[in-house]
Amino acid sequence: MVEDKIFITDDGSHSMFSEKHGVSYHSKYGAIQETEHVFINAAFRHQLSFIPSSLTILDIGFGTGLNAYMTLLEANQHQVKVNYTGIEAYPISMETVHTLNYAELLQQDNNIFQQLHQVAWNEVHTLSAFFDFIKNKKRFEDLNFENQFDIIYFDAFAPNAQPELWEEVILQKMFDALKVNGVLTTYCAKGVVKRTLKKVGFTIEAIPGPPGKREMTRAIKKI
Ligand SMILES: C[S@@+](CC[C@H](N)C(=O)[O-])C[C@H]1O[C@@H](n2cnc3c(N)ncnc32)[C@H](O)[C@@H]1O
Repeated sequence: MVEDKIFITDDGSHSMFSEKHGVSYHSKYGAIQETEHVFINAAFRHQLSFIPSSLTILDIGFGTGLNAYMTLLEANQHQVKVNYTGIEAYPISMETVHTLNYAELLQQDNNIFQQLHQVAWNEVHTLSAFFDFIKNKKRFEDLNFENQFDIIYFDAFAPNAQPELWEEVILQKMFDALKVNGVLTTYCAKGVVKRTLKKVGFTIEAIPGPPGKREMTRAIKKI
C-alpha cells in the first residue's frame, strides 16, 4: 500500500497528499479554512437557518475526519441534533490520525477527534448529546440511500483525479439520497459538473469559494 503524505496548508492545518490519486485532500490555502467555508458555512449553517432542530448529513468521503469533527463542534455549539454518516473507501491509518493537528489548531478536545477514527465501522455511535455518528467503509458507488439527508458534503477528489465519482449516475445517487430541499455542497465549480448536477434535477447556486478559489457550488434539491 502507498502511504499518503502529510503536509501543512497555508492556515497552518494539516492535509494529505494522495499518492494514489496524485492530488491533496484539501486546498493548499488552508484545510480548516476550506472545510469551514465549503461545508460548515455553505451547507451546515445554511440548512440550520431553515431546519433549526436536527440535521442529517452524508459525508463523501470521510478521509481525515475534518468535516465530521468540525460538524460535531458546530452541533454541540448550536445544540442541534445531528445524524452524521461518513463514507470512506480507503481509510487513513491510525498512525496518521494521531499526527493530525486539527484539535490543537481549533483549541478543542482531541479525544473526540480520535474517537471519530477509533470507533467501529457500520454501527451508530453517540459521540455527544448532539452527535450520532456512523461510518461506512465502502465505495459510495456501492451504496444506496433514498430521501434521507438534509445535507451532502461532496468531498471526493477532483474530477480530473477521480472522474468516476462525478459521473451522472453517481450524482443521480446523491440527488436521490437527499430529502426535498436538501443541499449538496462541493468546492468544485467546473462547468461540466454544474451541468450534470442540473441534468439530474438540482438547482445550482454558484457562490464565492474559499481562499484561492473564485467560486464553489451549492446544489439544491427543489421539487
Ligand atoms: C478530497 S479527499 C477529502 C477527505 C475528507 N473530507 C477530509 O477532509 O479529509 C477524498 C476522500 O474520498 C475518499 N474516496 C475516494 N474514492 C471514494 C469512493 N469511491 N467512495 C468513498 N470514498 C472515496 C478518499 O479516500 C478520500 O479520503
